[in-house]
This record gives sequence, structure tokens and C-alpha cells, in this order.
Amino acid sequence: MRVLLVGSGGREHALAWSLRRSPSVDSLLVAPGNPGTAREAENVAVGAEDIPALLALARERSVDLTIVGPEAPLALGIVDAFQEAGRTIAGPNRAAAEIESSKVFSKGFMQRHAIPTAEYGAFTDYDEAVAFARSLPLPPAVKVDGLAAGKGVVVSQTYAEAEAALRHMLLEGQFGVAGRSVVVEERLEGQEVSLLAFTDGERVAPLVSAQDHKAVFDGDQGPNTGGMGAYAPADVLTPELRQQAIECVLLPAVRGLAAEGRPYRGVLYAGLILTPRGIKTLEFNCRFGDPEAQVVLPLLEADLAEVLLACAEGRLDPTSVNWRPGACVCVAMASGGYPGRYQTGLPIDGVEEAERLGCQVFHAGTRLQGSRLLTAGGRVLGVTATGPDLETAIRDAYRGVQAISFQGAHYRTDVGAKGLAFAGRA
Ligand code: AMP
Ligand code: GLY
Repeated sequence: MRVLLVGSGGREHALAWSLRRSPSVDSLLVAPGNPGTAREAENVAVGAEDIPALLALARERSVDLTIVGPEAPLALGIVDAFQEAGRTIAGPNRAAAEIESSKVFSKGFMQRHAIPTAEYGAFTDYDEAVAFARSLPLPPAVKVDGLAAGKGVVVSQTYAEAEAALRHMLLEGQFGVAGRSVVVEERLEGQEVSLLAFTDGERVAPLVSAQDHKAVFDGDQGPNTGGMGAYAPADVLTPELRQQAIECVLLPAVRGLAAEGRPYRGVLYAGLILTPRGIKTLEFNCRFGDPEAQVVLPLLEADLAEVLLACAEGRLDPTSVNWRPGACVCVAMASGGYPGRYQTGLPIDGVEEAERLGCQVFHAGTRLQGSRLLTAGGRVLGVTATGPDLETAIRDAYRGVQAISFQGAHYRTDVGAKGLAFAGRA
């Protein structure tokens, strides 16, 4: 089949890499893609949020299946537009994507369907939000309702910090429309795990679990980022907990969305936290995670395009979604200063050497100037290695990282360490 992939980050490079290895894929277009996807596919200079132009491209190039990487086009209704035009597309429609694009909807939805999550209140009024925040036993997590590229959540350490966040969101309008409503929720403690599932609106096929590393520095210190690395599988989600997450989170979500007239097709991402009081759902996302995609897709044995087509057509066979044994680790190499201000346009060396060492180097924020690879974003590369076990995959991923250099590059040196600690080997 002819496939069009929408997006341009590290997740999309991993998707393109996996689709290129799908026997059912004859040709692959990526819009707009990046220098990494250009090596797997044909990049087309159409923006990921330009829905009319994407639809025209799919028509002109007789695309059989369109796959959407990022949340923004899903929240804008790309799936609705393609379906109205009679084109096959994998992903949730706009109403179903609200599970990610509106935290107020998502929290209410979880409450209606008894999906375990943090206690919360939703507010548009600053004084009411502050009063609720102060009534909680610990300084709360404060979240804008709408999409904010991962920057709309403040897990406060003090009540004053929570109040400042509420002021930025509700009084100063720092997040625009996305911050007109907020969610204030009880702070939870525990290890976080991402459990994603393919779904056709009825059946679910969970992926291998993964653990992201959101904080910028080792030991989960410093501000949150888009994700400084990941590993899979995350064994802290034991087989029992995994079963519980499927039964108490993923299935009720898929069934609840269908029951509310928002049938969900595509990849549903559950961000879980394992608290002393059991599994709680921090959030749902309406797409693959970034950098989770970079570590789960290399472990997928099944044909990704076939699985996503089956989701889109409402005929997913969960038994066909096979996985490889072993582990996968991705270390993000970021620009100096990220997640704050950073410089771009700096030359990158050593990618070929890392690949010679057996790593898969996923491009996240790069561009080409002639044949010279330059930095072009906060997260620049995702250096990824697959191995028979987590220890080997960690070792090999960091060998790749050592081979790569650009001015100011920084990365976490403890990606996967929690997995080793869980296995009792650290
Ligand atoms: P979210 O986008 O809602 O998943 O929030 C982003 C990150 O903030 C999560 O991955 C957690 O690390 C943290 N976080 C969100 N909500 C809470 C909470 N209620 N308690 C503790 N940490 C949280
Ligand atoms: N890794 C977190 C996310 O994709 O939202």
C-alpha cells in the first residue's frame, strides 16, 4: 500500500523507520518529515497542520493509508476531514482526540467511567481555583485545559508556586485559549509508566510498556522536557499491574468513548503512575508518545501499516500484534540550554559512526545545509539501541551517544537506570 505519514519529529522518524520495514508498504511519503525520514521515505514540504494540503497530497499521490504522528492535526480534525473525503486514515477523530486536547473533558470522562485518576477540580475562576488548591493536603499539580506542547503542567512544590501558575494561566493569559480553563489536582507519587494500545474502537492490543524520562537532568532533577529518553519494556509494570491497567484503564476508556458517541480508533496512550494506593491515570494522549515510539516500535514484530489499517477499518485482531523479545533504549541528545533557550544551526558529527556501532539514530530536531547536518531544535537526536536485555541496550545506546558530538550537546546519563534498579541489578 501507499502510505502518507504526517509529522516531523523523532517519533515520526521512528514511525517512518518501522513503516519502511512493513512488508505491506510499497511507498512512503512523509509530510513534512526531517533529514532522518528523508532516508526512509520521500519527504514532501507540506506542514503537519495544513489539512487541505495534506488531503490534496493524499489524493494526488493515490495514498491508501494516512498515519498521523502529532496531536495537533488530530485535535484540528484531520481524521474527520479525510473521512468526509472518503480517505482511509489511522487516528482518532476530533471528538475522540479530546481525550488529550481537553484536560477538563479527560478528567470528567475518567470520573464518569470510574477510571482511577487523581482527585481534581476544574476552574475558570482564579479565586475558586486558589481556594481549591489550598484545600488539598499537598501542593497540587496545575494544568491548562488545552494543548501546550508539554509546557502546560506545573507540579508545584509549594502552594505559592501553584498560585503563581494559576495566575499565569487564568489571569495573565500566558497560554491563550488553552489556559482559559484549568485543572487542579492532588499530587501523586510513584513511578510513571506509559502503556499504549492499538484500538479499533472496540478491541485493544496493548503495546510493550515504556518509561519516559521527563526531567532534564539525571535523577529526575530539573524542569520537565518533551522527554530525555525512554526504554521498553518497563518491567515495573509487572504482568499483574499490566493486566490491571488493561482492564481498569484502557478497556473502560475505549468502551466509554464509544458509549459517549466518540468511538476511538488509532493509538491510545495512557500515562500511568504507580502509587502506593494503586495505578492512577495521569493523562491520556491520542497518539504515539515521543520518545516512547522510538523504543516500542523497534520491538514490534507485526507489520505496523497492517495493524494501523485494521484499526482504521474496525477489524483489529489483537492476536496478530506480535512483539520481539529483548529491550530497547533511546537517549535524547539535546541542544545546550534546552528546555530553556538554545541555539540552533550547529554542526553535528558522528551520526554515521553511531550507526556503524549498531545504533539507530532517530532525528528529532535537525536540518541539512547541503550535505552538512545541523541542529534545528531542542531535542536533536534520539540515539537508540535494541538488545537481548536492558543492560546491553543501555550500554550500546550510550556507545552511540559517545560517538556523536555537537556544541553544547547534553543528555541524561541514567536512561534505563530505574529499569535496572527494578531488576535488582543496579
Ligand atoms: P500530564 O501532561 O498530565 O501527564 O503531566 C505531565 C507530567 O507532570 C506527568 O508525566 C507527571 O510527571 C507530572 N504530573 C502530572 N500530574 C501529576 C500529579 N497529579 N501528581 C504528580 N505529578 C504529576
Ligand atoms: N512522552 C510523552 C508524550 O509523548 O506525551
